[in-house]
Amino acid sequence: MVAETSVEPRQLVLPMFVREGIDEPQPIGSMPGVVQHTRESLRKAAAEAAELGLGGVMLFGIPATKDATGSGAIDPAGILNLAINDVVAEVGEGLTVMSDLCLDEFTDHGHCGLLTTDGEVDNDRTLAAYADMARAHAEAGVDMVGPSGMMDGQVRVIREALDASEHQGVSILAYSAKYASAFYGPFREAVDSSLEGDRRTYQQDSPNAVEGVREALLDVAEGADIVMVKPALAYLDVIRRVRDAVDVPVAAYNISGEYAMVEAAAARGWIDREPAILETLTSIRRAGADVILTYWAAEAAHLLRL
Ligand code: PBG
Repeated sequence: MVAETSVEPRQLVLPMFVREGIDEPQPIGSMPGVVQHTRESLRKAAAEAAELGLGGVMLFGIPATKDATGSGAIDPAGILNLAINDVVAEVGEGLTVMSDLCLDEFTDHGHCGLLTTDGEVDNDRTLAAYADMARAHAEAGVDMVGPSGMMDGQVRVIREALDASEHQGVSILAYSAKYASAFYGPFREAVDSSLEGDRRTYQQDSPNAVEGVREALLDVAEGADIVMVKPALAYLDVIRRVRDAVDVPVAAYNISGEYAMVEAAAARGWIDREPAILETLTSIRRAGADVILTYWAAEAAHLLRL
């Protein structure tokens, strides 16, 4: 009767991976229960997500070949663009179809942006590539793009590119306060990442919360429709601060390492899995997130119906 916080399926977004050139879904070792989908199995999973009443799906593509500029991200026949098309055709208005707008799955060096000759990530040259990628996703029919590369000015450039190409209706979920985190480990396996080194020149530094709020405010000013904090659990305070500072919805990404920790402990019988999942999601909502991206989205929707 007096519960202050609830978790509802409509507040959950399911991230999904689709891989080019496979015939069967491939399990991801460090994320038990999560797979790299074929185009066909992705369609089915998206239809199920819509039936369960989830708020959306977030799509990540894994191309068969990569290159220095991540050209597969922009190619209309690239795996992610094809998958957006498939899912939009499958679920229609049933939920919000979102796409990861970042080059890291498509570059052979694994960075989120283009590199200078010295091997540094080149912020401003990358922005032009993001504009092209935004147009490609919009052409494929996406509802909302999720720029996750943490380049300065990315939201402004993407908004301008969408508006100038008559895609004013496509909205932006900005990965605003995205911290350079050890908890992304399993994701790197999930997308067959080529990254060596780290992303510390463009992602946030974990001691800094004020800076996370500043990043969110900048993105709102640039035209973000939703701002996101990521990871979630080690940054619940940042979620709260951002929620108090902005007047748009706030999302939080319950990331791969957070998923893997619970799954690994539960597999050993060290914690009770289902209550741990619901408690995790409740804590993120209590911290102030309006929307949660979580690999448990479909399962949580089942649990919440019981
Ligand atoms: C970058 C991206 C990452 C994640 C989502 N988008 C990885 C990174 O920044 O290294 C991580 C998601 C997760 O760990 O679940 N395209």
